[in-house]
Amino acid sequence: MTKSEKVLRIGLAGAGVVGQGLLKFLAQRPDFAPAGATVVVTGVSARNRERQREVDLSDLVWFDDPVELAMSDSNDVFIELIGGSEGPARTAVEAALSLGKPVITANKALLAVHGHDLAVLAESTGAALLFEAAVMGGTPAVKMLREGLVGDDVSRVAGILNGTCNFILSEMEASELSFDVVLADAQARGFAEADPTTDIGGFDAGHKIALLGALAFGGAPDFSTAEIEGIDQVELLDIRLARQLGFRIKLIAQATREGRLASVRVNPALVPLSHPLAQAGGSLNALFIEGDRIGRIFLQGPGAGAGPTAAAVAADIADLLTGARRPVFQKPARLLARLSPADHAHRKTAAYIRLLVADKPGVIAAVTDALAKAGLSIDSFLQRSVQDTGLVPIVLTTQPALESSVDEAIEHIAALDVVIERPRMIRIAQI
Ligand SMILES: NC(=O)c1ccc[n+]([C@@H]2O[C@H](COP(=O)([O-])OP(=O)(O)OC[C@H]3O[C@@H](n4cnc5c(N)ncnc54)[C@H](OP(=O)(O)O)[C@@H]3O)[C@@H](O)[C@H]2O)c1
Repeated sequence: MTKSEKVLRIGLAGAGVVGQGLLKFLAQRPDFAPAGATVVVTGVSARNRERQREVDLSDLVWFDDPVELAMSDSNDVFIELIGGSEGPARTAVEAALSLGKPVITANKALLAVHGHDLAVLAESTGAALLFEAAVMGGTPAVKMLREGLVGDDVSRVAGILNGTCNFILSEMEASELSFDVVLADAQARGFAEADPTTDIGGFDAGHKIALLGALAFGGAPDFSTAEIEGIDQVELLDIRLARQLGFRIKLIAQATREGRLASVRVNPALVPLSHPLAQAGGSLNALFIEGDRIGRIFLQGPGAGAGPTAAAVAADIADLLTGARRPVFQKPARLLARLSPADHAHRKTAAYIRLLVADKPGVIAAVTDALAKAGLSIDSFLQRSVQDTGLVPIVLTTQPALESSVDEAIEHIAALDVVIERPRMIRIAQI
């Protein structure tokens, strides 16, 4: 076989999980030559040159500063696999785009926060900015929304976008262990970061759904308006009780459009056990897309990991080489809609409400009265046996109602003398 004369030279910033995954991919796939061009990494930047890695970097030119790598003539494309919305990742990406150099990144935090400005910059210099690996790892959600569904009007994207949270919730249910114990185990086994805030706080899923919402609705990503609630308050008791009621608790990220209004939200939610999202266990990601013409699409696959994520980066390399070119988001940056955040007061939800009450006559009547005052109807009711303390856990689910009414009901219930601690409310997913 004669070797292609065309060569694409990559400057790789970040040689961690994904960066090494990409280097391994290129070593394993010498036949990966989209449009007949050979792909070679020429320079690399990481924080610590002495760090032991699974791949040999000794043949590559080392750059202490990723910005220098981004600006170097020794590469034709800059691949940013450092991470973070600020700092060296942002500066280096901006530097490459300013020079008109194509950028591939897996950095959802950077794009969710600065995506619009970066798209404006990329389009002003004619540089490509590609990010298939930023959402759902190896599962091609970005391409599907940006390209495959551009002919439809997508009204909602909703799903499970953080593998660490999904893993923790699945493990809590399977092992009957508390959140803290399962998190510590996940950290020890490398499934969760030493500082897990970005994942368990719901921020990572928030970055991803902000991007998917932008791609789906033809808007600019706007992480600042996202409402984020993580899984750190989910108790094993809630997982057990939800199960008894026929639900599983998942961290659900969703973006919904109504006209020029959009809401982007992440929160734990009860999902019926028979629903495909309830079946996506472990570190899987899963996504529903709803469009006016297509109806519903369900996508499920690996959302992280060196192999799948590197494959997504390789798909972007292939697009660069074949010349397949789309705007950074769904439309040219100047035409991206500014979707205003929807008014939350008009949003409806069904709710799971858990109470701890004194074992006294008239308690149930007082609780149902408080719900009725706020206009809420009960859908199901579960009373557990009296504890040694003389207290009784009660769980009820409501019919869908305005969120403001659910909040009002919680306040009424919390104010009752017989209610011992503030009620715990978890939304029931309407998907
Ligand atoms: N891990 C996944 O499965 C996955 C999936 C989808 C998307 N992503 C995204 O991909 C990106 C990389 O993730 P990762 O998991 O590969 O992260 P990681 O394992 O923590 O690797 C980060 C890399 O960046 C380097 N780095 C940090 N600060 C630097 C600096 N100031 N200058 C130069 N290099 C610096 C680190 O250098 P040292 O090695 O010397 O410390 C390391 O090689 C992130 O945006 C992440 O959100 C990851």
